[in-house]
Amino acid sequence: MPAAAEPSSRLLAESLLAFWADAGVDAMLLEEAIDRIEAGRFVPPPPPARAAATVSPIRPAAQGQPDISAAVAQAQALAAGAETLDQLAEAIAGFEGCPLRFEGATRAVFYRGRADAPLMVIGEGPGADEDRQGAPFVGRAGQLLDRMLAAAGLTDRVFITNTVFWRPPGNRTPTPAEQMICAPFVERAIALVKPKMLLLVGGASAKSMLKREEGILSLRGRWFEWRSADSALELPAMPTLHPAFLLRQPGAKKRAWTDLLTLTERLDRPHRPD
Ligand code: URA
Repeated sequence: MPAAAEPSSRLLAESLLAFWADAGVDAMLLEEAIDRIEAGRFVPPPPPARAAATVSPIRPAAQGQPDISAAVAQAQALAAGAETLDQLAEAIAGFEGCPLRFEGATRAVFYRGRADAPLMVIGEGPGADEDRQGAPFVGRAGQLLDRMLAAAGLTDRVFITNTVFWRPPGNRTPTPAEQMICAPFVERAIALVKPKMLLLVGGASAKSMLKREEGILSLRGRWFEWRSADSALELPAMPTLHPAFLLRQPGAKKRAWTDLLTLTERLDRPHRPD
């Protein structure tokens, strides 16, 4: 009887990967940890003039540690050239400067909601459901967020996005460097949507948007002034607890609800001209 053919190494690898995927493993980590915070320390370049049109190519992040200041400069130029949300979405989808794009994310996840919303909700970064569906906050945490927004009468009054646009592997928190690289796109979205205020969902969003070091339990429920990098834009911003945290700690829902009511009261306050 002829001996059975040995399975090729490709088949063996595919079968092993399918086994891991079935077991819920959806990210591969390196043997040696990378200190991404240290790798990300740099002085951001000054924001470019609005008209800056030329975008020089940067070293692709896939080839190793990215050149973060070049990535930020490229994001700034691309964002400045976007005159509409559609153009901004296209610029983000074509941007190769964020390392997350090459770490297992299948697509860029930009926003959902109204393009002229009075409230912009900014979360941390897309998770597995968001990566699959291409829209932010569509998983369990997003469903809780939607229920809270609905209860506060905010359903059709929000634009929802994140500090980064690609799913961090294994749903880890985005690093400050990744958030810095994506920040010019977030700022441009704020400039185009022109919301009256920001709701910053979760510690990683609040710290990055407000450049604060305190934890979310100390930041939440307080008003801060968010400022764009060139200080041309200023908006009131309130940090609150992340709905994923609320799913794990339902006892904290009362605090998030209080934050949302405080924010809604200000949003609905009649504007009195000086
Ligand atoms: N968590 C976030 O911070 N953003 C999402 O889009 C989904 C979950």
